[in-house]
Amino acid sequence: MAEIFITRKVFGEVIEILEKEGHTIDINNTDTILPSPKLVKRARGKAGLVSLLNDRIDSQVMNELSSLKVISNIAVGYDNIDIDAATRRSIMVTNTPGVLTETTADLAFALLLSAARKIPEADSYIRAGKFKNWQLMQPQMGVDIYEKTLGIVGMGAIGQAVAKRAHRGFDMRVIYFNSSRKELAEKEYKAEFVEFDELLSNSDFISIHVPLTEKTTHMFSRNAFKRMKKNAILVNTARGPVVDEKALVSAIKNGQIRGAALDVFEEEPKVHPELIKMAENVVLAPHIGSASIETRLRMAKMAAKNMAEGLKGNKPPNLVNDAVF
Ligand code: GLV
Repeated sequence: MAEIFITRKVFGEVIEILEKEGHTIDINNTDTILPSPKLVKRARGKAGLVSLLNDRIDSQVMNELSSLKVISNIAVGYDNIDIDAATRRSIMVTNTPGVLTETTADLAFALLLSAARKIPEADSYIRAGKFKNWQLMQPQMGVDIYEKTLGIVGMGAIGQAVAKRAHRGFDMRVIYFNSSRKELAEKEYKAEFVEFDELLSNSDFISIHVPLTEKTTHMFSRNAFKRMKKNAILVNTARGPVVDEKALVSAIKNGQIRGAALDVFEEEPKVHPELIKMAENVVLAPHIGSASIETRLRMAKMAAKNMAEGLKGNKPPNLVNDAVF
């Protein structure tokens, strides 16, 4: 029986699962991000830490938490955790893959549609009482989606779920860039494997689905934007720092690309002030890729089960750092 610290508000089911196992729970019910010293203070002496993607758990934090055995992150991404540092200390780290794939792909597509067809702008127009008559030259004329080319950067599970929607629902041509070929996507969704530069210059829409690593940081740089089509719309539901936000702002301002739909930001929860102003060609969402009630609950329960298994000394189903086992 162990003590667990949960860094933020979670569904009651998480607590039920862990208490049933006989564990004692301490929880930060304020639901605000705890600065490292506070997090350390609350988690000290505990064997389990249930974290969210915006809790930074680096090697300094781990140095202070010598009793820690399992970190269960309620997210598929785990760039907030220093995995090497955890592995060196034999701390298991787990994530929540799979259960959020379709939901995140839905959101990526929703953003793509919203930006292409200017839905947020149209909504604001009506609310502002500006809808007086149907006009042929309507201010909210967007661009077509069907039969256009979608470039997918990162063809993991979520990338493939986006490809499925594009191919089956919208007759889009799908091209992709990934570290390896994905036969299923090539066969089922007619996805074509291309080099990054080719993807940039041929896509009408680009959707990002890579994890954040040193390699993918600022993958969308000034140079990348220069290669993109003038009509292109960039969709990011992965991680903010994959896109150089300053370069994105310039690219939109200079007409190098048409616009963007962003669910994630370089310095969350901060958003570049210029992006906030760009209501006509930028759609913004507050990191809600997996935010359906069903999926968030599935993620939370999965995280609780990962924690329970790890604390039993078993290999958790979604162990990220296999080397510790
Ligand atoms: C969300 O961004 C996640 O990584 O689960």
